[in-house]
Order: sequence, then C-alpha cells, then structure tokens
Amino acid sequence: MKDIVLKLEKEHFLTDDEFKALLEDDSKETADFLAERASAVKKEIYGNQVYIRGLIEFTNYCKNDCYYCGIRHGNANADRYRLTKEQILDCCEVGYNLGFRTFVLQGGEDGYFTDERIVDIVKAIKAGYPDCALTLSIGEKSYESYKAFYEAGADRYLLRHETADECHYGKIHPKELSLANRKQCLYNLKEIGYQVGCGFMVGSPFQTTESIIEDLKFIKELNPHMVGIGPFVPHKDTPFKDMAQGSLELTLKLLSIIRLMLPHVLLPATTALGSINALGREKGILAGANVVMPNLSPRDVRKKYLLYDNKICTGDEAAECIVCMKNRMKSIGHEVVISRGDYKN
Ligand code: 5AD
Ligand code: FES
Repeated sequence: MKDIVLKLEKEHFLTDDEFKALLEDDSKETADFLAERASAVKKEIYGNQVYIRGLIEFTNYCKNDCYYCGIRHGNANADRYRLTKEQILDCCEVGYNLGFRTFVLQGGEDGYFTDERIVDIVKAIKAGYPDCALTLSIGEKSYESYKAFYEAGADRYLLRHETADECHYGKIHPKELSLANRKQCLYNLKEIGYQVGCGFMVGSPFQTTESIIEDLKFIKELNPHMVGIGPFVPHKDTPFKDMAQGSLELTLKLLSIIRLMLPHVLLPATTALGSINALGREKGILAGANVVMPNLSPRDVRKKYLLYDNKICTGDEAAECIVCMKNRMKSIGHEVVISRGDYKN
C-alpha cells in the first residue's frame, strides 16, 4: 500500500480502484504511513502551527430537516435560541482578547436572520475587528445573498456538501434538499471570491466506500480552501438515533488523504472528532489537520447547539477551552498561533 500512498503524495490523486484499496485497507501500517506523509507535507507548508477559529453558534433555529442533525426543524425537543447582535459582538470581544483572529458565525437556516440582519452583523464585526477574518456558515442562500455578505466584509464560507453521492444524499436528506443546489452554492461562493470550505461526515448512515470516493473526486474538482470532516455521531432525537457512529480510524485516514490531495488546504480536527475520542483532535492534527475550532458561544447556550450527542466543551467557558487547547497542541509538539490563519499559496 505504501506505493499508493507515495503516488497520492506525488500526484495528489488516485484512480477509483486505488482509492478503494486505500480506504478499505484497515491496517495500522497503512494508517501510520498515511499520517506520516500527510504530516510531512503539512509541515512543509504550515510548520507546527495550528490555527484557531472562534466558533459562535448564534442560532439553533433551522428550517431544514436533515435526518442526521440534532437541530433539525422536526426536533421538538430542541431548546431554541438566538443570540442578539450585542451578544455576538461580546463573543468576539472575549475571543479577540483570547487571541482569536478568525470568527466563525455558524447557525441553522433561520429566517429571522434576514440578509439585512446578517449584513448588519458582518459589518459590525468587521468594523470592530478589522484585523480579523470572518467566516459564515449559515447554509444555502442565493447568489445575491452570498454576494451581499461578501461585500459587507465576510471573507470565508463553510458549507459542507455532506455527500457527493446523489443517491446517498437522498437517503440522509428530505426531498426539498438537493446535491445539485448544494454544489451550485459552493461554486457560487467561490466565484464571488470567498475562501470556501466543503466537507462531509465520515460514517454517516448508508455511506459506502463508493460514496467516499465521490466525495474525494468532488473535493478535487472544487479545490476548496478548507475541508471540514468529522465522524457522524447519532443524536437521540433524530431518525438516525440508532445508527452507528463513524469510526475514528477512517476519519483520521481521510484527513491524511485530503492533506495529500490538497497540500495547502486548511483542515480542522473537528469537535465531533474530539467528541468520539478523548484525544481525537490531537490525533487529527497528527494525521495532517492544521486547524481547531474552539467554541466561543456563551456558556448558557452551548448545551442547546447540539448537532449530535456527547458533544465536548458544552460546559466550559471560552477561556478554559483556549487554555486546554493550547496545552493539548503543545503536548503533541504543535503551537496555537495568534493569526488570521489564511490559506497559504
Ligand atoms: N454528527 C456529526 N456531524 C453532524 N453534523 C450535523 N449533524 C451531525 C451529526 N449527527 C455536521 C454536518 C454539518 C455540520 C455543521 O455539522 O456535516 O454540515
Ligand atoms: Fe474545550 Fe478542552 S477545548 S475544554
């Protein structure tokens, strides 16, 4: 398998058969070699620096009903909340003082937050923190809306494609949502000028090796600046409550594969990864990730933004998380830096 890994490192892509062989090889040797090559490639570009993003989960209202997601519209047990503009700005202030230079505004698709309100919030954050990058993660919008947010000052946009396999997409989403529109949104964001992130869950119900290969091909085609992947974790109030969670090992292998495919990519070791294994984020960094996204949401709403069960850091203050994260990264020879953490060309 080493020859396939070395080919991936050199050519940044593989045939379907080679991807399949690599993905279905569950030996520790292969995983270790992948992580070793991915780490070497990452080190060349980003050194041992880890970029932090302050995640502000500003609304858990959502009009969509994705079968896997804990804040889906159909979950009557979700305790809904919205942060005010002032609360969001308070999160930024706390975050700035802790060394964050990127803020990520993430929320469900919440009609209360009209384009006008989002533009207003984006402008306020960029006016208060002109040296910071602002990332939006608020779902599918029209070209015009994306353009308005960009012109207001938003720099980056995260929109996981969730799965690039049409048939699989239909099994985990209600019929109102389509892969075609999802992809179009990502191309629109790129065209407008955003640094764009796509991504998917590892081990989501009905995912096959073939669906993952489709994901890898789509990622290659889109050539995003960021890729967010984490294990699927069931949420007790969703149709997928009894489904198995995604595997740590496969998530780590995919982080390494994505690093080798897109050497410069900004790749987070996600909260979901940290939630299924006590050292998940450390292992993710050692597999080739170079970003972590500690939570900046106010403590009293953290337990309400639950996309999946057993989410970590829901009882901690932002200040506690950043200290914890710095120590975690130090323990594996990495360093959290005060930086916007832009994509390096
Ligand atoms: N397990 C893991 N990740 C999830 N997400 C949503 N629900 C779950 C879950 N149950 C991910 C989706 C979404 C991102 C914000 O969180 O990929 O795009
Ligand atoms: Fe939040 Fe460790 S990062 S408590």
